[in-house]
Amino acid sequence: MTQVDKTPEKISEMFSEISKSYDKNNNIISFGLHKKIKKSAIGLLDFSDNMKVLDLCCGTGDVTEILANTKYTSDICGIDFSKDMISVAQKRFPKLKFKCGDATTMPDYKNSSVDLITMAFGLRNINDRQSAIKESYRVLKNGGQFLHLDFGYKNIFSVIFNLIAITAIKLLYGNTLPYKYLIQSKKEFPEPEELIKEFEREGFKLKKKKDFLFGIISAQVYNR
Ligand SMILES: C[S@@+](CC[C@H](N)C(=O)[O-])C[C@H]1O[C@@H](n2cnc3c(N)ncnc32)[C@H](O)[C@@H]1O
Repeated sequence: MTQVDKTPEKISEMFSEISKSYDKNNNIISFGLHKKIKKSAIGLLDFSDNMKVLDLCCGTGDVTEILANTKYTSDICGIDFSKDMISVAQKRFPKLKFKCGDATTMPDYKNSSVDLITMAFGLRNINDRQSAIKESYRVLKNGGQFLHLDFGYKNIFSVIFNLIAITAIKLLYGNTLPYKYLIQSKKEFPEPEELIKEFEREGFKLKKKKDFLFGIISAQVYNR
């Protein structure tokens, strides 16, 4: 299979198309586990009062909501470039703040102005990973934290996941773009050790790492 087209327009359009079924389908392909994994990854973070937080590539807002419920966040915003994903998030969580924006360029945010940035299942969809990592580094305060969560190791369990979950996706979407895209984007995404090097090259320091589901999914917490 050739490389997937990850131009921002294509990605945003694809997520907009699946926005209404995204949550239901996420529950199906993760066997209902994705919320638990997101909570557990957030549990790796150090919290203090009045944190300013950005949840990048927030999609329909799962992570934004979990963070808001910690009560440590004085200012939290979910950012995504698909206005349809944002609209689903805003309907699910009317009291929370969401806005359209691109994780690779955040001109509204000053240098060293944010305490915590999270990105769950987002970086894999960004063509220019380096720009996204650099931009988060710029916006985070010194000592600020970045939580990254996404697919991890391409091991035997990942192969089994592909067979089961991806078959489910195929049944849900047919042989259409979202199905092909998920498989290919997983294949092209670096494994955690390689990804950690990409973060370290931009100045981040790895603080914690935790694998879920035998390494199929991996979380890393970095310090700026
Ligand atoms: C797989 S979803 C993850 C959503 C959510 N974080 C979750 O864990 O359920 C990926 C999201 O990233 C968004 N996205 C991809 N590239 C982006 C970018 N450069 N800037 C902002 N959002 C982006 C997509 O629109 C999509 O909503």
